[in-house]
Amino acid sequence: MKTTTEKIKSMKGKEKIAVLTAYDYSAAKAMDECGVDIILIGDSLGMVVLGYENTLSVTMEDMMRHTGAVARGAKNALIAADMPANSYNDNEMAALNAEALIKSGADTIKIENEPEIAKFLVDNKIDVMGHIGLTPQTATNFKVQGKDKETADKLIRLAKELEKAGCYSIVLECVPVELAKKITESVSIPTIGIGAGPYCDGQVLVSNDMLGLYDRLSPKFVKKYADLGKVMKTAFDNYIKDVKKGKFPEDKQSFH
Ligand code: KIV
Repeated sequence: MKTTTEKIKSMKGKEKIAVLTAYDYSAAKAMDECGVDIILIGDSLGMVVLGYENTLSVTMEDMMRHTGAVARGAKNALIAADMPANSYNDNEMAALNAEALIKSGADTIKIENEPEIAKFLVDNKIDVMGHIGLTPQTATNFKVQGKDKETADKLIRLAKELEKAGCYSIVLECVPVELAKKITESVSIPTIGIGAGPYCDGQVLVSNDMLGLYDRLSPKFVKKYADLGKVMKTAFDNYIKDVKKGKFPEDKQSFH
């Protein structure tokens, strides 16, 4: 059955929410068949798929194309698409671009910070996932956020503002365990952690990280569930050797 934002909200305090990123049809189909609750087309796309240094070069066109591919692969999971940097600089721009992502197949969108924009979108019937803590589109310091009282209080306030704006969930990225727990207890909507410890209502990982496909960065919070990078290299290596030796194709891969 198709997961809704209502279902996600109702899971708070009852069942942990499992979220993964995906960027293409095959991965989305596989994780959907395994029962993932939310598939996020993250703008991490820029780094793990398109090979940019960061997320800032990702365009609306990139997000729309990959959102469509994911939506075609996933039947049940709720689909959330990231709004890329500079696609929500004001309310009207945000609404236009959010609608384009929904038309491409997203059920909901995600933005970083910006409670006023979130409220405008929600008022215009677009479901919004918030994202606070380390927010790569505007970050100047890619470290754990909210370590002192002032910045921690600011993050708690921001989470409450996003809740009040009508967001159905909030991603907490790279915040200390104790602060993530406090934020989770301070809002009635689910928190989805990445590098935010075990007390969040759900967890998200970049699929290419947890599959061992992206080796440019290895953040402490990633748990590698597979080493597909290694599996891929072995397969490519064997194929190249077979071709060089004339061992591929064999008769069973040939037509007569
Ligand atoms: O872009 C992304 O993949 C994200 C997750 C890290 C939450 O925003």
